[in-house]
Amino acid sequence: MKTKVYDLRTQYEEGIKAAAEEIRQGRLAIFPTETVYGLGADAFCPEAVRKIFEAKGRPQDNPLIVHISDFSQLAQIASDVSDMARRLMERFWPGPFTAVLRKKPGLPDEVTAGLDTVGVRMPASRAARDLIRESGCPIAAPSANLSGRPSPTRFAHALADFDGKVAVILDGGACGVGVESTVCGLTGEAPEIFRPGGITPEMIRDVAGSVHVADAVLHGVKPGERVASPGMKYKHYAPRAKVTIVDGENAKTIAFKLNSMYDIEEKKGASCLILCPDASAPRYGERRVWPIGKDESEVARQIFDALRRADEAHIDHIFFEAVAAQGIGLAVMNRMIRAAGFEVI
Ligand code: TXA
Ligand code: MG
Repeated sequence: MKTKVYDLRTQYEEGIKAAAEEIRQGRLAIFPTETVYGLGADAFCPEAVRKIFEAKGRPQDNPLIVHISDFSQLAQIASDVSDMARRLMERFWPGPFTAVLRKKPGLPDEVTAGLDTVGVRMPASRAARDLIRESGCPIAAPSANLSGRPSPTRFAHALADFDGKVAVILDGGACGVGVESTVCGLTGEAPEIFRPGGITPEMIRDVAGSVHVADAVLHGVKPGERVASPGMKYKHYAPRAKVTIVDGENAKTIAFKLNSMYDIEEKKGASCLILCPDASAPRYGERRVWPIGKDESEVARQIFDALRRADEAHIDHIFFEAVAAQGIGLAVMNRMIRAAGFEVI
């Protein structure tokens, strides 16, 4: 398949129209959102949704998020929406917030992997909402990466994984948030965060009065253990390099530990790399260091790109300096713990 590419800076109308036409025809289109690029299909077309799983190599039991452009579309997808759920959606939409609600029977089971709940999100990205509106249907879309690869935060990432495998890719430049949306269960008494993201637990608590963060957010899931959100099971977001997260009492002890591990690995012939906040870089001396931001938000925006660039540079071992697991730092640590196969030193 020849993949058509449109640059939204110069071909906005044309690109949105072309992608919407492919979606209406039951084919796949990749589009930018404020979090990461999405691999979209008509949520009400089971054959089109199946193509998403095929193209990504995604496990069949991992459900997709349905993207909407307007509150009025919610009624087609979800039912039994509580007042609390409605308040949260009104506060955080459009934005990086996915509401897990009771599913409407008419929505194909392919989208929800057979669950009786569905994740719904109204993206902040104007291009994403215009595409949904122009397509005339809600769009089911996971992140536009091959299953197991880091999520795509730039056009080049999506192209690298899907050139020749999808009908259209819309180039909207770099994504502003850089980690995927907060996935929040809203069918119980209190909101429960299944996957942390740009909307933090603190922000959700402010609206709902309470919030629960699922245990699996910062831990592994044991084989056979039941989880509320299937995506939490997988070793995800992984570059080809081995990833080790280094945490500690303070910056000095982290640097001491990290430097000694780095030197041992380098002596064995491994090509090593340190990813850390800008301010820490001097503590690693002459070693190979990529500073990836002045604060947690900037680290979030750059982390997936750094993991992909590390692969291109043939790095064998990445050492990641832990960030504080609060605010958007919780989302960064959740992704990196999975990239590291749940190993933190
Ligand atoms: O920011 C985002 O959320 C991006 C953009 C494209 O919107 N999408 C995204 O989709 O990250 P994906 O498929 O890569 O991740 C969706 C996550 C998975 O971990 C999945 O298990 C979880 O959401 N999920 C989806 N539906 C669910 C449901 N009904 N119950 C629990 N978890 C659900
Ligand atoms: Mg994903």
